[in-house]
This record gives sequence, structure tokens and C-alpha cells, in this order.
Amino acid sequence: MKVLVIGSGGREHAMVWKLLQSPKVSKVYAAPGNGGTAGFVSESGKKCENVDLLGRDPCEAEIQEALIRYVKREKIDLTVVGPEAPLAAGIADRFNEAGLPIAGPGKKAAMLESSKAYAKSFMNTYGVRAARSYTFTDVNKALEVTREHFGGTGNRGKAAGKTGKKSAETSGEGISPLVIKADGLAAGKGVVIASGMKEAAETIVSFMEEGKLGGAGKTIVIEEFLEGSEVSVLAAVSAGKTGCILPFVAARDHKRRFDNDQGPNTGGMGAIAPAPEFSAAARRDFEEAILKPTLKGIRAEGFDYRGFIFFGLMIQNETCRLLEYNVRLGDPETQAVLPLMKSDFAELCLSIVNGSLDSFSLEWKPGAVCAPVAVADGYPGEYRKGDAIAFNETAFAKTGAVLFAAGAVRGPGGSEGSGLRTAGGRVLAVSAYGAGPEEARGKAYAALNAVAFDGMAFRRDIGES
Ligand code: AMP
Ligand code: GLY
Repeated sequence: MKVLVIGSGGREHAMVWKLLQSPKVSKVYAAPGNGGTAGFVSESGKKCENVDLLGRDPCEAEIQEALIRYVKREKIDLTVVGPEAPLAAGIADRFNEAGLPIAGPGKKAAMLESSKAYAKSFMNTYGVRAARSYTFTDVNKALEVTREHFGGTGNRGKAAGKTGKKSAETSGEGISPLVIKADGLAAGKGVVIASGMKEAAETIVSFMEEGKLGGAGKTIVIEEFLEGSEVSVLAAVSAGKTGCILPFVAARDHKRRFDNDQGPNTGGMGAIAPAPEFSAAARRDFEEAILKPTLKGIRAEGFDYRGFIFFGLMIQNETCRLLEYNVRLGDPETQAVLPLMKSDFAELCLSIVNGSLDSFSLEWKPGAVCAPVAVADGYPGEYRKGDAIAFNETAFAKTGAVLFAAGAVRGPGGSEGSGLRTAGGRVLAVSAYGAGPEEARGKAYAALNAVAFDGMAFRRDIGES
């Protein structure tokens, strides 16, 4: 069987790696893939080939049509979609119309990620436990409710300083923060946790009036701030006659740039699986309060949802609340979770698309995987590119780790080179297995020490609680 993976990140490299382990799979294609998937050869000698999209994006209708022609021409049996943007742009609907099997939800179901207002109304309708929230399309109403929360009279940020109510207006001392979310996809820039009226008002005005995020911020969701530990649960979904959501081992992503959760939010600086915070009791609570009502909603809405779903949870005292849905697997969670999967990933994808997921027996290895991410200097702001990535193969091999490339392309890597050079903010992840989290962490950092590029930076506390 031949499989096409859509996307270009570390998550997609991990999918390629796992798919090539399947005895069923003879070849994998990645569109557009990255420097790690280009010519990637599995232990059994099977290959991945990148599909050149000439710098264009699989979100474009024309490129999606070209991919359909490619899949037909190369007789590819199955397509698996990594990122959300092509799903929100209808790639799964197009493939399904053309009669081509694809793991990924259609555009309507993808609104669970592409519109936070829609996701919140879905959660409310079907009783999925989440933060309380309001949705606004009117800037003045949003400001009014925010003012009521912070107990001040400040307006649009500027008035905040004039009212004299400094504690409530600017620092929000003693008052819980508010979380302001742009409705649309905003590449990680659409969520602001505002601890006072001034910051809240500035955010609301910049999103809704000044168009800071383009159309994505015209509608906003304001929700209560939740405390606790964040856990990501990835799952397979097949909404057929009976319908089924099969959760994976939970993972923990570390989103802040610096150690001890300091600094700006990023796409994810590393992950560990299983997530230590996800106890058996928390899992039971998640299944009752979040998973079951989500499946009920997906079925009631009549979504042809065959793909993956990501539950972003906040857990406190073993009680779970849903922060967000993503309609795909997580990055870098996938790089920590797939190496723990004992089952055949290609078989799993097939059972998703052909509706037999409810009888699929998903099995996991014991132990843990730690996957720290190496980023380019400056990330998540402006970062440098084009540096050769050196790789000490002997030292790396001793750890048993796997390298998943992300923002890296093929290119000269120097005498000890990996054949890769940097091309993105999150450059690569290394995933290391251990009998427990300590061992996994030790091996992952030993593996990362065998990789070097100018301006390489990483967190040293991935997987520590
Ligand atoms: P989202 O895209 O909705 O997951 O939000 C991005 C990040 O903002 C999350 O991973 C959390 O760290 C944080 N966040 C979102 N919603 C809340 C909330 N209601 N309370 C606390 N933190 C939140
Ligand atoms: N790691 C968070 C995400 O994939 O959205």
C-alpha cells in the first residue's frame, strides 16, 4: 500500500516514520514534506519521497486538485492530513468527492478548530465541560462585559489610567484574568490572557477594530481563566453508524519558550508521553465529561468525521475542562506519542477511513517518550535560517533516539553533517524512549547533545513536572 502524508512539520515526519514500519506499507510520499522526510529510509529499507508543491500551499484549491491527480496517477491508496489549514480549506471534502480515501475531517467539522465561537457553541449545546465564555461581534459589548469583570470604568485601554482605579484597571490585583480568543485561525497569536482592563481593552480593540489578525479577530470569545495542568489527548475518530473516538496515550506539551514555563508562548518546545498529570481518575472524568458528549455532538451534527481530534485539557483535582479542540494530531505531541504506539498506524488510519475503528484494538508500549524541540535563535520572534546542522551519528545512535525534522531542508551540513540546514523556527525534535520518564529524558538530552547548529536553543526541562 502507498500512503501520502500532507504537511511539512515534525509531526508529519513522525507519521512517515511510523507508517513505514507497517508491513502493509511499501512507500510513503510527503507533500511537501521537509528535509527529514526527503529520501527518508526506514530500517527495512522502504522510502519516503517528497512531492514538490513548488512553494505553494496544500490549502489552495488548485494544489488540492493537483494532489488528487497525483494520487490517482501514482495509485496512492490512502492520504493522511497533518495540519489544520488544508482541512479547514476543504481538502478532505475534495478527496471524498473524488472517491479517494483520506484521514482528516471535512471543512464543516474542521470548524471545531477554525472557529472558536463555533467550538464554544458546540461545547455548550452538547454539554462538553469547558470554561464559561461569551462570544462577541460588537466591540463595545465586549468592552462592557470586560469592564464589569474587572470592576472598572476604563475604556479602550486609554481611559484606564484616568479613572484612578489603578488596581482593578491595570493590574487586576485580586481579580482573575480573562482569556481573550480570536475566533479564527491565527497561527498561535490569537489567545491573550489579560490580567487587567488595560491589557484586555487593548487586545479587544486590536483584534476587533484594528484588524491585527485580519478577519480572524473580528469575532472574539472571552472566557474565564482556568488554573491547573494542561494535558493533550490525541485520538482517532470515525463517525460512522455507531461512531467511535479512540483516545491515545495522553501527552504533555511545554508551550512557553523558556525553562520553568517562562517567556512567550510557542508552537510547543517539547512533549512527554504519557502525561504524568493524567491519572486513571482524570481519564475517567475526561471520558464522561468531554469525550462522550463530543462524540454525541459529532454524530448529531451529522459530520462525516474520519480523522484525528486533539483535546486540549486543563486538569485540576482530577477534573478535566476542555480548552480547545484541534481537528488533527498535535505537534510536538505526535513525536512523543507515536513511538509509544504498538499498533500498526497504517492499519489504524485504514480503520478510520473504512469505519471499522470501533473494533480496532489500539495497543501501547509501556514506558515513556521524551521529545524536546531544538529551535533557531530568536524563535518565536524573528529567527535565523540557513545554518548547517551537524550530527554525531555514533553518539546519537547510542541513545536509540529518533530525529524528526521540522524547519529543516536538505543542504550541506559540513564534514560531520546531517545533510540538513535550518529553515524554520522549530528546527527538529529528538524522541527518546525509556522505561520511565527519567530514562527517556536522559536519553533525549544525550541525543540532543549529538546535534548542533549555530544559534541552536532548547528547553532543558521537557518532561519535568
Ligand atoms: P487555545 O488555542 O484555546 O488552546 O489557547 C492557547 C493557550 O492559551 C492554551 O494552551 C492555554 O495555555 C491558554 N488558555 C486558553 N484558554 C485558557 C483558559 N480558559 N484558561 C487558562 N488558560 C487558557
Ligand atoms: N502542541 C499544540 C498543538 O499542536 O496545537
